[in-house]
Amino acid sequence: MPVQESAGGEETDESRRDFLKAAAAISGVLAVAGIASVMKSVVIPSVPGQTQSSFPRVKVSSLSELSTGKVVLFNYPLDTEPNLLVKLGQSATGGVGPDGDIVAFSQVCQHLGCIWGYVPKGGSPSVNPSYVAPEPVGYCPCHGSVYNLTQGAAVIGGPSPRPQPQVQLDVDSSGDIYAVGMGAPAVFGHDTGSNDVSNDLQGGTLVTST
Ligand code: FES
Repeated sequence: MPVQESAGGEETDESRRDFLKAAAAISGVLAVAGIASVMKSVVIPSVPGQTQSSFPRVKVSSLSELSTGKVVLFNYPLDTEPNLLVKLGQSATGGVGPDGDIVAFSQVCQHLGCIWGYVPKGGSPSVNPSYVAPEPVGYCPCHGSVYNLTQGAAVIGGPSPRPQPQVQLDVDSSGDIYAVGMGAPAVFGHDTGSNDVSNDLQGGTLVTST
């Protein structure tokens, strides 16, 4: 069940039909496997009168806790919003640490808001065993969007219209890793499609620790 990669953001009618067939099949697998919980959407409620203007600085991990392929899940910048940090084992855009290979991204898919998971290079997602990741990727089980985590979560497959927002990380002198901000685009559900990341701060409660 190959995932169709778009060329220049366009798909042929044939590839679109194939994709829709694949998406339907994956949805069936998820239902049978009872793991539809990973398909939850995140809805950000608006809070009248609440305006938050700066991203918090929150410790999410440390260099000593990480090894290649290790994943850390944490909420940021709001306390309901999932993100995924991973040490890729190869240099990456925006990567921190001695090898520049530690990255983190919003886990809320920019397509329709499902939660994607990490797949190492050469690995396959459980929902689509025939797919082999050409790079360390984020793979969304809902419709097969694929994000290259070495390249700022650029879209390399599936229907997502834009990359995943990257969490800005900082490592202090003791090796502790902090989330300190979000890069564009805005997190899905916060004026989706906008590059104004101040939207990420509205509609909920900022995290103070993880
Ligand atoms: S929600 Fe559709 S691919 Fe992620």
